[in-house]
Amino acid sequence: MERILEIENLSVHFPINIGTVRAVDDVSWELKEGEVMGLVGESGCGKSTLGFSILRLLRPPGRIVRGRILYKGRDIVLMEEREILDLRGKRIAMIFQDPLTSLNPLFRIDQHFVETLFAHEKGLTRKEAYHRAEEMLESLGISPERLTEYPHQLSGGMRQRIMIGLALILRPDLLIADEPTTALDVIVEAQFLDLLADLQKRYHLTIILITHNLGNVAQLADRITVMYGGSIAEVAEAGGIFESPLHPYTQGLLASIPNIKLDQPTLKTMPGSPPDLVDPPQGCVFHPRCPNAMEICRARRPATFHRDGHIVSCWLYR
Ligand SMILES: Nc1ncnc2c1ncn2[C@@H]1O[C@H](COP(=O)(O)OP(=O)(O)OP(=O)(O)O)[C@@H](O)[C@H]1O
Ligand SMILES: [Mg+2]
Repeated sequence: MERILEIENLSVHFPINIGTVRAVDDVSWELKEGEVMGLVGESGCGKSTLGFSILRLLRPPGRIVRGRILYKGRDIVLMEEREILDLRGKRIAMIFQDPLTSLNPLFRIDQHFVETLFAHEKGLTRKEAYHRAEEMLESLGISPERLTEYPHQLSGGMRQRIMIGLALILRPDLLIADEPTTALDVIVEAQFLDLLADLQKRYHLTIILITHNLGNVAQLADRITVMYGGSIAEVAEAGGIFESPLHPYTQGLLASIPNIKLDQPTLKTMPGSPPDLVDPPQGCVFHPRCPNAMEICRARRPATFHRDGHIVSCWLYR
């Protein structure tokens, strides 16, 4: 499979008054075209920052301080503003947790679609744009009649579907979905994930699904990336992560989540707390919480090892 995204040694910092938050620290990562990649990890580990970097949408004072982000071989970090604007929406789209903040309450749904299309596709007529919006609503399982309604007239689940429709109307090939179902109840969430899977196949999308719900990624992802403290702990096929996690953090994460494995003896919470990214621990960021920590883990950042199809950053696999 072709690689659509290659990230090399990416570091993203937020300089704040008490120091520098190392939100993403020397991350190297690859996505294959057409795959669904789950991106999981505790709150604050850098998932959104990594996602936002790919579109260069970091909130101030966030800054990419090092590394490359190659989209089909072209480095996004070095792109001019004009190129970036073209990339956003048309090639790479992002959807967020809260659809209400992203839809303009003063605009009808059709206006959202038409504006988006007009902004990027020159020469399109209003009628063609409207037709494209109707087609999109049908593929979202929403009656095209609802196009003339305003955001507040739709249910939360419908608004989230509209969001994904708007993200896909320009036919991007990479979709970054950041906690897209957090605002939805479980039934609507399941429907939304089904829809996402359906659209993924139909449009041959590559998806980065950011979530701290491992159940969501279990349902959808081909591969899973586990982040911890601004670094990537482990990347593997979804089955490999759930059945034979290698990184002690992945193991701890799975043990702390109910209903993933039915044969799980008891639920365990991981001791300790997430690292302070302004002053991260020496060596491996996970070592203060790691049941397997060795001398080298306190001294040196782990290298990346390949084992049983997993990519794992842990000295246990040296
Ligand atoms: N605008 C900002 N200014 C300062 N620090 C920030 C800013 N945005 C994020 N950070 C810090 O960067 C780190 C990574 O945050 P990020 O939002 O990427 O985590 P996350 O994994 O997406 O968490 P969550 O699961 O809660 O969404 C955190 O320590 C966070 O406090
Ligand atoms: Mg986040």
